[in-house]
Amino acid sequence: MNHPKVRKAVFPVAGSGTRFLPATKAMPKEMLPVLDKPLIQYAVEEAAAAGIEQMIFITGRHKRAIEDHFDRNPELEMLLQAQGKTKLLDALRTATPPGVNFVFIRQPEPLGLGHAVLCAQAVVGDEPFAVILADDLIDAQPGVTAQLVQSYEQHGASVLGVEDIPLADTGKYGIVATQALSARDERVTHIIEKPAPEEAPSTLAVVGRYVLRPEIFDELARTQRGRGGEIQLTDAIARRVSQGEVVAHRFSGTRYDCGSKAGFLAANIAFGRKQGLID
Ligand code: G1P
Repeated sequence: MNHPKVRKAVFPVAGSGTRFLPATKAMPKEMLPVLDKPLIQYAVEEAAAAGIEQMIFITGRHKRAIEDHFDRNPELEMLLQAQGKTKLLDALRTATPPGVNFVFIRQPEPLGLGHAVLCAQAVVGDEPFAVILADDLIDAQPGVTAQLVQSYEQHGASVLGVEDIPLADTGKYGIVATQALSARDERVTHIIEKPAPEEAPSTLAVVGRYVLRPEIFDELARTQRGRGGEIQLTDAIARRVSQGEVVAHRFSGTRYDCGSKAGFLAANIAFGRKQGLID
């Protein structure tokens, strides 16, 4: 079946990043580098590799560095060119892949992930789109967004990237109950935001990757503040679940929770090993 192409990705980047203070006092947490690349660039490269053409950032105060990062820097490019530093020049240019455009929308108040996604409605319009949380850095080939897009093309349903987590950690994630569809795809029958282990329907957690059908916007507009007083994306997805329209995809790849110090450190070590920088 032919479904509308996934051409747009939303990157909610308005969060404050208090866990990394003081590093994030004057710098967005999404600009923290794993080796030599900021987290947000890994996310954008993953989207571009999945055929995404428009990158939509939902930003907040103190996030200008992200806009600057995805802008060209002609002076620096000329300097590197003049010095014959072509490798560095290429590295600089990969931040702005050809054929890709960038849109920045301010989220006026920190009302949660669901509200951030709703802020993208006017730009996304009536088509499916990806949501990528840069905190979850996922080393995968092909990238996880490409895996989710493929699953969306097969089912025509919204798709959530999921993986099994320890029971003790259910309170950190959206947790789903599912019925098997194929080796990696499962129909979602229930979803709940950050349940205590004794309330969790499973240990299958939603990580920061989604492909959503545009109907989610109507659900988000109707969603009341939920857990933590925030408008939760999970609550809006729950209503699509009751329509039987949501699939969970067990992606292949290794995820690093770069919203935590331990995960961020593990990512740096793993990527450093891969590049032969350390044993
Ligand atoms: C958000 C979502 C949660 C999801 C998680 C993945 O939570 O609300 O459902 O499992 O991202 O990283 P946050 O980590 O922003 O608190």
